[in-house]
Amino acid sequence: MCHFSFPKGFCVGALTLAILGWSNQNAASAETGNETALPGFTNYVQKIPGGTVSFEMVAVPGGTITVGSSENAVGRTPNELPAQNVTIKPFWMGRYEISWQEFVPYVFADREEVEKDKVDGVTHPTKPYGSVYRDRGEKGYPALGMSQHTATEFCKWLSWKTGVKYRLPTEAEWEYACRAGADTAYFWGEDPAPAKEYAWFKDNSKDTTHPIGKLKPNKFGLYDICGNVAEWCAKDSPDAPSIVRGGGFPDPVQQLRCAARQVETPQWNELDPQSPQSIWWLSAADFVGIRVVRSLSDELAAQAEAKPAAATETAAKPADNAKAQATYKRFCAGCHGVDGKGQTALGKRYGARDYSSAAVKATLNDEAMTNAIKNGISKEGKHLMMAYKEKLSDDEIKALVAYMKAF
Ligand code: HEC
Repeated sequence: MCHFSFPKGFCVGALTLAILGWSNQNAASAETGNETALPGFTNYVQKIPGGTVSFEMVAVPGGTITVGSSENAVGRTPNELPAQNVTIKPFWMGRYEISWQEFVPYVFADREEVEKDKVDGVTHPTKPYGSVYRDRGEKGYPALGMSQHTATEFCKWLSWKTGVKYRLPTEAEWEYACRAGADTAYFWGEDPAPAKEYAWFKDNSKDTTHPIGKLKPNKFGLYDICGNVAEWCAKDSPDAPSIVRGGGFPDPVQQLRCAARQVETPQWNELDPQSPQSIWWLSAADFVGIRVVRSLSDELAAQAEAKPAAATETAAKPADNAKAQATYKRFCAGCHGVDGKGQTALGKRYGARDYSSAAVKATLNDEAMTNAIKNGISKEGKHLMMAYKEKLSDDEIKALVAYMKAF
């Protein structure tokens, strides 16, 4: 069977992919945040601005694969999808489940900042009933117990924070990534016995979660893709049921089958005495969590339109700079580049200068910079940069001036 078609119509297996140069260890180039790294489509590390937290994204090659299960498959339950061929475009997926380090800033720290700015409609959870951690471990452990709504809002927050569009996987993407080329019941084969090497589930979890990344990954290098916490997928439509994939620590081995799905039930919230129940937390579902993805096609489209969407972080900035950085990425990086060097397609076209060079630094003064940002720049009748005075407050402009001088 053809697991990967790359390029279209050309059938290759996992080994050939390695020969074609796709490597799941190649994390270096995308880490530079240099847009030209995109055609390389490699693994990268995403830093979250304003702190020291980062997470790894794995480049998953596109291909065609059979997802779902046939009617007579061993261990099949009726809610599994029928076997069907799907073609998946290349995308990135988190190497690990989202841990509390990434999730807690969303729940607590950035609240005021986001609410004051009404940033891109990001909303924040209310305080959970009881401890957010549910006594299941904190640092290094997977974030858990959030509703699908919260998982989706988390992705919006993460996108705002990083300037890179993150989202929940579709079910097809999730299963494709889990299988990593395998058409067997489990990603390691038909025999359930090796499950303990790859997944925390009923037989080895001691009824709790474990720190992310401790067991063996699948062939794409994804850890805990089965077991530990089951992972939220995006809804196909607003009325579609909420689904998690991969099974969690309390589940029997059959739930680790690639095609297995779990549909949210009212029982998942039955310990919540509030009425109405929280839309943010599932009081009795401490076995659900998050793994994020990013589309390659989004990034290519963004580049074609030269949207100011930054690829990745170059350096962690101090926390008080995070806001200026986010504004900069949103409005300015499209031309001036995340690194201020002006090497984006648009920056080159309009002649943006290299703000990290001493020669340019020597020409800068606050007043001229402020004036340029407020009123825009045209040269010999040619438009170079729009006026931002309607879009940005004086304080934001001041912060941007300081931010650009520091390149
Ligand atoms: C459409 C492309 C484009 C965008 C978007 C853009 N700029 Fe510019 N900007 C330019 C060009 C071109 C120049 C003139 C060459 C240069 O100085 O880099 C310029 C010049 C400047 C200058 C003039 C510096 C000086 O005093 O000589 C500042 C400051 C500046 N930009 C800041 C910003 C900020 C802040 C944003 C986002 C709010 C932004 N730019 C968005 C293209 C852009």
